Amino acid sequence: MTFLGIDHVSKRYGTVLALDGVSLGVSLGVAAGSRTAIVGPSGSGKTTLLRLIAGFEAPDTGRIVLDGELLADGAAAMPAFRRGVGVVMQDGALFPHLDVAENIGFGLPGNLRGQAARIAELLGMVGLPIAMASRRPDALSGGQQQRVALARALARKPRLMLLDEPFSALDTGLRAATRKAVATLLADAGIATILVTHDQTEALSFADQVAVMGGGRLLQVGAPRELYLRPLTPMIASFLGEAIILPATLADGVADCALGPVAVDDARRQGAADILLRPEQVSLAAPTPGAALAQVLDCDFAGPACAVTLRLQSGETVALRQPGIAAPDIGATVAIMVHGTAHAFAAGD
Ligand SMILES: Nc1ncnc2c1ncn2[C@@H]1O[C@H](COP(=O)(O)OP(=O)(O)O)[C@@H](O)[C@H]1O
Ligand SMILES: [Mg+2]
Repeated sequence: MTFLGIDHVSKRYGTVLALDGVSLGVSLGVAAGSRTAIVGPSGSGKTTLLRLIAGFEAPDTGRIVLDGELLADGAAAMPAFRRGVGVVMQDGALFPHLDVAENIGFGLPGNLRGQAARIAELLGMVGLPIAMASRRPDALSGGQQQRVALARALARKPRLMLLDEPFSALDTGLRAATRKAVATLLADAGIATILVTHDQTEALSFADQVAVMGGGRLLQVGAPRELYLRPLTPMIASFLGEAIILPATLADGVADCALGPVAVDDARRQGAADILLRPEQVSLAAPTPGAALAQVLDCDFAGPACAVTLRLQSGETVALRQPGIAAPDIGATVAIMVHGTAHAFAAGD
């Protein structure tokens, strides 16, 4: 059953059509709770969509339904505080003059004394020590502030949690750890979550459903693997990670391309098509007879990985990431091995 339904929602700001007929469904999995990531370049309408779901603004047209309840039907919209939707924005937006306990208790009924047990429980949930309750936000790290903002959003037991780039201000290591902790916490609590991010790795690792936005439209929705390996267009392919896109001729499930014959995922397609390989599908080996050969034009070693530029026999150059341990010498001739199947893009892209 669809838990959250977004149906042909549009929103315009002056001359900018921020959302152009967006439809998206979020279902609950076997265990309650589900994780959707909305990913797309800056300005593609991600925050606007979250603001409409949260009720900070109303759509111009279209409907939003949560758990069978109509949240918005065009400009007729239920107020945000009645929706049971928790929100954590990019900067956390804690009240700077309130301490941690007051920030978390802000929306809770009763006085701070009565809330103490609940605040302690919420701090525990987000992995913060109780001693932090009396600190002001400026005495917390970025990661700790985001956890307080999450505790505040959890305090009112939302049925849906919206996270708008909540980890983007954090350093890479802390960011991955915080993301994992938050994902686990929300899954354990059985809360359906929508994460907005412009970071494709974050989207792919967080979500069980990924929606790619561009120019106010939803370009593709699917499971992370599906989107990464079978994107609808070269643009989506490149947005979700490094992509090797080559022209090819397809016949009976084999693509004839500059890397030689490569198995392709669509056995029915025949004739000219662009194909996609991810860099990790390609490895380099010592030249052997019959193998597709290439010359190493450049190799930029960076520890665990290296960036290799190859000139293929067709004259085309291809850039690919390889394990640092397999870094080839510049000028060497190498054989190219392809693993798995290439993805053939639909005609017309
Ligand atoms: N309050 C606003 N007034 C005018 N334009 C806005 C407003 N909010 C967003 N926009 C415009 O709508 C488009 C989508 O913005 P946004 O939803 O913030 O994108 P994203 O979160 O994907 O970066 C952008 O072109 C942005 O400039
Ligand atoms: Mg945004």
